[in-house]
Amino acid sequence: QAYNERESLYIVLGYARDFFVKNLQTEEGKAIGLSYFKERGFSQSIIEKFDLGYALDGWSHLHDAAKSDGHSNELLLKAGLILQKEGDPSRLYDRFRGRVTFTIHNLGGKPIGFGARILTQDKKQPKYINSPETDVYHKSDILYGIFQAKKSIREKDNCYLVEGYTDVISMHLAGIENVVASSGTSLTENQIKLIKRFSDNITVLYDGDAAGIKASLRGIDMILEGGLNVKAVVFPRGEDPDSYARKVGSQEFGEYLEKNAQDFISFKIGLYAEEVAKDPIKQANLIKEVVSSLAKIPDPIVRTVYIKKSASLLGLDEEIIQAELNKIHLKEK
Ligand code: GTP
Ligand code: MN
Ligand code: MN
Ligand code: MN
Ligand code: MN
Repeated sequence: QAYNERESLYIVLGYARDFFVKNLQTEEGKAIGLSYFKERGFSQSIIEKFDLGYALDGWSHLHDAAKSDGHSNELLLKAGLILQKEGDPSRLYDRFRGRVTFTIHNLGGKPIGFGARILTQDKKQPKYINSPETDVYHKSDILYGIFQAKKSIREKDNCYLVEGYTDVISMHLAGIENVVASSGTSLTENQIKLIKRFSDNITVLYDGDAAGIKASLRGIDMILEGGLNVKAVVFPRGEDPDSYARKVGSQEFGEYLEKNAQDFISFKIGLYAEEVAKDPIKQANLIKEVVSSLAKIPDPIVRTVYIKKSASLLGLDEEIIQAELNKIHLKEK
């Protein structure tokens, strides 16, 4: 029965969560996992709030424990907690080994998956390993931190969107709880709908690097298409919300967000400003960029407001923007 299958997945994932959390108190866990979190400035209470843990180094710590507590191999495989050896599927091993773990919760707070970070600089291994898609974990439908953020998103009527697990946690430490992470993947329609249940306003806080800017631009258009209001904050080059919050402290970090939140038009103009100054012909590209975002706004009234704003910021007549928009709408028909 489908219902029972999902329930048993929640149970085994809860078991794994408890196991990883407990591991933090073992000698190995304290020496490696806990000391890693402490170095990042994570407090005991934030570790508990986010169910942070540690996967012991070894091939079958979780598997052995789960098996002796009566969880079947089939269920552990379905939950993405263990893997079959390639070419020898009867050999099973733990997916998460020798890494700190970040529990991914669903909206109701049940564990549905894990992210696990490497502790060394080993370039041959991925920095993060995440749970695969399972019957309860659909990564395009969930956002990391939504369970811990939902109340604050509603209260503040705004949701900060960041890239990584540690950005979410460091912002909570800085006193900002209305924050979720897309976990390094590109934002989906369902994730935007999930946020829309709590607020119509999103502020994108992606990393201050080329990849972060590119992801922001794509995210902004997705959010506009979803009919939500979007702002963006650019961080100094090389900084992400986690590193920047730790660098400047909570107070200054909060102020930075307030001062630097730009609507999407100013954000785009800012990105192109340097190019346009050097080469006025590039202004045409900028206008096309802005217009392509305007075209994604479904509500005509909101669109009109932004057309006015774009015209004034770009020093153009509204009619010119409107004419460009009409070209796009004609192409779509
Ligand atoms: P820290 O170095 O711990 O501060 O991580 P970060 O969150 O700043 O990492 P980064 O900006 O590189 O990546 C953002 C998010 O993308 C992470 O939180 C992960 O969810 C995801 N991610 C990063 N590296 C990998 C990887 O190697 N594999 C996968 N699957 N996801 C990754
Ligand atoms: Mn499903
Ligand atoms: Mn990054
Ligand atoms: Mn980052
Ligand atoms: Mn980081």
